[in-house]
Amino acid sequence: MNQFEVTTLNEFILEQQAQFPNAEGDLSHLLHHVGTAAKIVNREVNKAGLVDILGNAGNTNVQGEEQKKLDIFANDHFINALHSCGEVCAIASEENESFILFDDDMARNGKYVFLMDPLDGSSNIDVNVSIGTIFSIYKRKSAIGEQATMDDFLQPGTQQVAAGYILYGSSTMLVYTTGQGNYGFTLDPSIGEFCLSHRQIQTPENGNIYSINEGNYLKFPAGVKQYIKYCQEKDASTNRPYSSRYIGSLVADVHRNLLKGGIFIYPETESAPKGKLRLLYECNPIAFIIEQAEGQATCGPQRIMEVEPTSLHQRTPFYAGSSNMVNKVEEFLSVFG
Ligand code: AHG
Ligand code: MN
Ligand code: MN
Ligand code: MN
Repeated sequence: MNQFEVTTLNEFILEQQAQFPNAEGDLSHLLHHVGTAAKIVNREVNKAGLVDILGNAGNTNVQGEEQKKLDIFANDHFINALHSCGEVCAIASEENESFILFDDDMARNGKYVFLMDPLDGSSNIDVNVSIGTIFSIYKRKSAIGEQATMDDFLQPGTQQVAAGYILYGSSTMLVYTTGQGNYGFTLDPSIGEFCLSHRQIQTPENGNIYSINEGNYLKFPAGVKQYIKYCQEKDASTNRPYSSRYIGSLVADVHRNLLKGGIFIYPETESAPKGKLRLLYECNPIAFIIEQAEGQATCGPQRIMEVEPTSLHQRTPFYAGSSNMVNKVEEFLSVFG
């Protein structure tokens, strides 16, 4: 690709679709609307502080979290964009207790259900630190034309047809996969287009970064404590000690580690025995991207995408990133628990 050649997200989506002669273009159409919603949210994120979009919205979400104005803004815009595209029959969101059913002529026949964390890293919004959006797409199990049911959402991550994230950082990037590798697009504000910037993102099998909230150290499982000690020991042959990098926005921590190599850990703790991160709209989509980059993502004992979900907002421990680093922490968990 020469330096002047620009491939926009929409051109790329159509190129990918052309590789599947039987494709009808509905997933392409859906991904196009994800890109549009991302540009709208990006516009507000980029001028947050100048407009009344910072701070708390004054209510608590189903997670028991103080909702931020940008949580709600992002949620509303993704819901509207995906409703109007007509390819999605229902949406599940971190910010809504149950799923949102689209039961009108425009969307009732949508083939897909969409799950999202509309604004990830909310605690960082008001301090101008990178935040993100995470999304996961499944083919519905219920019949076209009927009302979507909870079973459409409670599918293991291995059934995802597409997943990705938007990172509102020093630049705004959209990274997604449909199972044929990961592709990264950087928003060029001068033309208002996401342009292909990262073809086939692969993560190194070893990395020198570990990402975990060490403030919870005393509450970690013994195996995690031992692994942190391992990361901090001096051993030139394995490039240790590693660097500790933790932003508090899953998308930003994962994206950095994906490109550079590293491991992200949010384990179960005494106060959060199931972990903190949500399986359906944080861990599964991130795991899809990481596995497509030849990394690994587990909940400790199991590949995260094989977990059979039982509820929309269920939480899970999460160990994800460079494959050899995930293997190593699993060794410590198997010995120390
Ligand atoms: P969200 O803002 O969507 O609720 O997600 C926050 C998550 C995730 O982005 C991040 O990795 C984690 O919370 C940070 O949790 P701690 O502040 O407990 O470390
Ligand atoms: Mn939240
Ligand atoms: Mn989140
Ligand atoms: Mn969120």
